[in-house]
Amino acid sequence: MPATITAIAHYAPPDILDNDYFSKYLDTTNEWIMSRTGISERRILKNGATSDLIVPAAKEAMEYRGLGINDIDCIIVATVTPDYMFPNTASMVQHKLGLTKAWGFDISAACSGFLFSLVTACKLVESGAVKRLLLCGADKMSSITDYKDRSQAILFGDAAGVCIIENTDDPNYGLQDFILKIDGSGEPFLHQVAGGSFKPASHETVDAGEHYLYQDGQPVFKAAVKGMADVSAEIMERNNLAPDDVSWLVPHQANLRIISATADRMGIGMDKVMVNIEKYGNTTSATIPMCLSEWHKKGALKKDQNIILSSFGAGYTWGSIWLKWGI
Ligand code: UT7
Repeated sequence: MPATITAIAHYAPPDILDNDYFSKYLDTTNEWIMSRTGISERRILKNGATSDLIVPAAKEAMEYRGLGINDIDCIIVATVTPDYMFPNTASMVQHKLGLTKAWGFDISAACSGFLFSLVTACKLVESGAVKRLLLCGADKMSSITDYKDRSQAILFGDAAGVCIIENTDDPNYGLQDFILKIDGSGEPFLHQVAGGSFKPASHETVDAGEHYLYQDGQPVFKAAVKGMADVSAEIMERNNLAPDDVSWLVPHQANLRIISATADRMGIGMDKVMVNIEKYGNTTSATIPMCLSEWHKKGALKKDQNIILSSFGAGYTWGSIWLKWGI
């Protein structure tokens, strides 16, 4: 009995930073940003924390499914921008929503956070240990972005995507297969140096900007193109899925060029790829559930469709999931 997504919603805060805004005070242009990344706008949460991005989306998902505060057994939050180092953000969400019967925890897997959490959530539900799980992918990337650095400032945005995971009687819906990978040799190229146990925060680390995200774009780009394309092709091959069998590719949205390279390798046209990078930039753990939610809202996702989710992020972490849509 596979677990499946039974409701999905997202929240992107209303404040927008567009490319013209960056062109005014950084040495950059709309043309450079669009041609290198495909990003035009990103949303910024001016006040509040990652849990505040999750709460409106969680309320919407619970309402869609007709669930009350006693109906959620477990909360998983995928994030690299938790409200606090501790307690976990799942506890903040539990408290803000009043989900008195839920336990929960956070998962840190950067841009692959939603995929790692979706597999964990589905396995918890399939085992019978949890009946209804609130799965949240959310990041307030503006809290770790250096807005003086043109190579990072333009890339990221804030958002949340939330879904409900439950068992289904029909084995044709839900999680069908997954490939998840980690490789810590990627750490030097994409990380937040200070604030953890390796280098606790100090005046010196703050002066050096080490509390911000650091990315060496080119090695990450090369690893992402290969990593995402490899796992996406592998999950199709080992399940005998031809390009025509796949209704949607839902890729992590870090760079339009990485997305199209992945689609090419899978042999599927861009008309079957969910792309919203132009409006939101890279929202880390929120990206994939936000795409699913947007496409669900506009009626483009249909029951029985084969969907491939693919991601690549810091760690390195990467992976691919084959889902059969069941809403
Ligand atoms: O989130 C999950 C994992 N992350 C990714 O998947 C991201 C992977 N990497 C990328 O998407 C790309 O590497 C970036 C979009 C981050 C950067 O694009 P790039 O084509 O790799 O550019 P680059 O870093 O090699 O920089 C090329 C040039 C440099 O100038 P020089 O040294 O050639 O003179 C940069 O200083 O572009 C310059 N540059 C900019 N110029 C104008 C960097 N940022 C900007 C900017 N505007 N915003």
